Amino acid sequence: MSHTRSTYTDACAFYGHSSPRNLADAWGTPLYVYNENLLRQRCRELKGLSSHPGFNVNYSIKANANPALLRIIREEGLVVDAMSPGELYMDELAGFTPQEIVYISNNNSEEELHTALTRSRLVSVDSLAQLDLLGRLNPGGKVMVRFNPGIGAGHHAKVITAGKATKFGISADSLHDVFALLDRYNLTLAGVNQHIGSLFMEAESYLAAADFLLHLVESIPSQWRQEIEIIDFGGGFGIPYHKYEQQPRLDMPDLGARFHARITQWSKQQGYVGHFFIEPGRYVVAECGILLGRVHAVKNNGDKRYVGTDLGFNVLVRPVMYDAFHDVEIYGASDALRAPIRQNIVGNICESGDILVGERMLPEITTGDVLGILDAGAYGFSMSSNYNQRLRPAEILIDLDGQPQCIRRRETLEDLARCFPTA
Ligand code: LLP
Repeated sequence: MSHTRSTYTDACAFYGHSSPRNLADAWGTPLYVYNENLLRQRCRELKGLSSHPGFNVNYSIKANANPALLRIIREEGLVVDAMSPGELYMDELAGFTPQEIVYISNNNSEEELHTALTRSRLVSVDSLAQLDLLGRLNPGGKVMVRFNPGIGAGHHAKVITAGKATKFGISADSLHDVFALLDRYNLTLAGVNQHIGSLFMEAESYLAAADFLLHLVESIPSQWRQEIEIIDFGGGFGIPYHKYEQQPRLDMPDLGARFHARITQWSKQQGYVGHFFIEPGRYVVAECGILLGRVHAVKNNGDKRYVGTDLGFNVLVRPVMYDAFHDVEIYGASDALRAPIRQNIVGNICESGDILVGERMLPEITTGDVLGILDAGAYGFSMSSNYNQRLRPAEILIDLDGQPQCIRRRETLEDLARCFPTA
């Protein structure tokens, strides 16, 4: 397939037997398109990071909770997390059993924790107050405790989840208070977990934080330590968003080799026979998803060129929320060569901050073009909204035969009215 700017998706046959323009015509835009082959590849790559018998990948479904994708992820042998009753429900819709779900809570209500206790393998709490609540709800039961390793990492301050400047986790200084609560409610410490933040491109901080957690476990008195069945190091594995600049990938073989060596040596040394989890979200799904949109109007305001599309921040909020970069492909009606010019790609939302791509040199985009926003599979649809009463888009999956399958229909106006009491 030859388009104005499409060498990346051409090379991986992203759209199977369809072309993006045909998909946009057939299914309408905005449209999330996922590629099953790429999704399975990522799952296998992550599962292959370590051959330690206790190692597994706990997919963090906040990145994308479509049950059709979750079913594929389950087929690939991953387990899943949940952090709300809604996520639990999606896990269950996809066929995950309670034994395959870890509930990683943050400031949950008593009722939510109660739900989580009955429908997941383990519930992680990340404050003394929630540990106390869980103890009252489930005396004599099992619990997982989330620690704050004091080492954070991430692409933006809003997604760094460890260190003093975040709301997450219990600090290692409070270990004695944790033990006191375990004692008070006769709880079994069945797991420990952490998450340093989202999107690191080098292994160092992750491995340093993993060491922190292993040392912390060593310092837990054996009466509790020997009951631990899951040590979960969290997610945050980054993907290269700058596809057209050949941004290097996170070196997964290197990370995997070092991680594997560490957990293998540690479990031997400690006689640990439980599980080691990693908890990636983005790495699993980001690259298998592309958001298609259509250009409706192009104009110049002063010296700025605005390419007006149907890709408002209600469908992809990452650029507006984190100044996140997504590469863009351009699927024009013809292959005519177009010179690069500086452009802003904007959406259809009533806010001047509704900018998907700011002042970027790209081949000249014109009305009628279809655009592909790359690496939109993670935190794309899952963070979408009905702002301006826009409808959430459809999602389709290019299956292993290269055929498009609808995995979520586009919303309708009736969907917008669903929750209002009828007159
Ligand atoms: N585990 C926990 C406890 C988390 O809070 C998160 C993400 C993950 C795992 C998965 O992290 P990942 O591997 O996807 O980096 N909306 C932001 C990312 C927010 C991440 C929140 N927590 C974005 O679009 O960049």
